[in-house]
This record gives sequence, C-alpha cells and structure tokens, in this order.
Amino acid sequence: MKYFRKMVGKRCYLSPLNPEDVEKYVLWLNDMEVAQYLTLAYQLVSLSNERETLEKFSRQGDHYAIVESKSDELIGGCALLNPDHINRTSEVGIFIGEKSCWNKGYGEEALRLLLDYGFNILNLHNIMLNVYAFNTRAIRCYGKIGFKEIGRRRQAKVIQGRSYDIIYMDILAEEFTGGSFLPPLSPPG
Ligand SMILES: CC(C)(COP(=O)(O)OP(=O)(O)OC[C@H]1O[C@@H](n2cnc3c(N)ncnc32)[C@H](O)[C@@H]1OP(=O)(O)O)[C@@H](O)C(=O)NCCC(=O)NCCS
Repeated sequence: MKYFRKMVGKRCYLSPLNPEDVEKYVLWLNDMEVAQYLTLAYQLVSLSNERETLEKFSRQGDHYAIVESKSDELIGGCALLNPDHINRTSEVGIFIGEKSCWNKGYGEEALRLLLDYGFNILNLHNIMLNVYAFNTRAIRCYGKIGFKEIGRRRQAKVIQGRSYDIIYMDILAEEFTGGSFLPPLSPPG
C-alpha cells in the first residue's frame, strides 16, 4: 500500500507521504507555474536532494501527502510547520502539484483536514500561514476556510521585475467552523 487514510474528507485524504513518489514531487517543484507561488522557486530541486528531503519529512514532523479519494492518486502535499506546543501555535504550508486539480476545492478540503487535525488532535490554538500578494487564488482559498489577514511584510517578494507584499494570515481554533472530519468518539445510537 502506498497511502494510508489518516484524515479523510470527501474529495481527498491526508496520508503520511511516500518517498517513492519522488519523481512526481520533482516534476511539480520544477514546474514554475506551481513553484512561483512557493519559497523554493529559486532552489535546485533534483531527484537526489528531493529524495533526501522526503525521507526526512516522512520520518519527522507533520508532512502529509494529499491523495485524491476516488483515484488514490497523489495530487499534492501539506504540512504543519514549526509547531509550538507550549503556546499552541503552528504554521501551515500547502501545494496542489497536479494543476488539473486546481480550483476544484481540493486545496480547501486538504487544509480543512490539516486544521481539524491541528486543532482537534494536537490541541493547537492559533495556526498561521503566509502567502504572496499575487497569489489571489490561494488567498481566496484561505479566506473560505476562515483565515484572516493579520499583517503584511511590504514589498518583500521580488519576482518578474516587481515587488509584492507577503501577507500573513491566521485562524484561531474557535474560528474554525464547518465541522470536523474526525470519526465520532462513541458508537452511534
Ligand atoms: C493555492 C492552492 C493550494 C489552492 O487549492 P485549490 O484546490 O486550487 O483551491 P480551491 O479550489 O479550494 O479554492 C480556490 C478558490 O480561488 C478561486 N480562484 C481561482 N483563481 C483565482 C484568481 N486568480 N483570483 C482569485 N480567486 C481565484 C476559485 O474560484 C476558488 O474559489 P471558489 O471556491 O469561491 O470558486 C492550489 O491552487 C495550489 O497549490 N496552487 C499552487 C501552489 C500554491 O499557490 N501554494 C500555496 C502557497 S501560499
């Protein structure tokens, strides 16, 4: 088995990532249509260094493969980053590498699954992300979930001859609405 259904939604589920998928990650992370929205656009993502990264991610931290439920195909990845269990905060990152899956709600659902896990299993209280101001699709996706802008680092991203703000957004546990994907604790009836 390649994937395991840890957090399960309708369209997709989160699984521990599988380093055997290295070629798919390298393909996606070298595709500038995907990478220009990520911090790694300027990095060399080769088979050997990505294999090392995936091996490391699969052993430590909350890094997940996003898998389409219908096909059991890998479509992207997401992670809880820099968790602080004293102050109950974390950051998140996400990408859907399979471009044919953009704008179909996979990003929203995958992030909801990750937040559900973060708030309801890890007992986090505040989850933050950052996004380039030109990434209007991502900002829309995060807004649908309940993330709110909390500040901007002005003109801190330079790309294609222009400067853009980096927008910081966060969400509190009590602002995360729309239901949990976790199974009920007691049997129904
Ligand atoms: C950002 C990303 C995770 C969002 O996932 P997704 O599955 O495409 O997003 P969703 O379908 O859940 O939501 C996208 C929303 O943006 C809207 N949208 C699409 N293009 C848009 C644009 N150019 N401007 C504003 N909104 C846009 C969609 O219509 C949809 O809103 P709706 O549901 O109200 O119609 C995904 O597109 C992705 O990985 N992109 C490349 C990498 C990336 O940007 N990662 C995030 C870095 S911060």
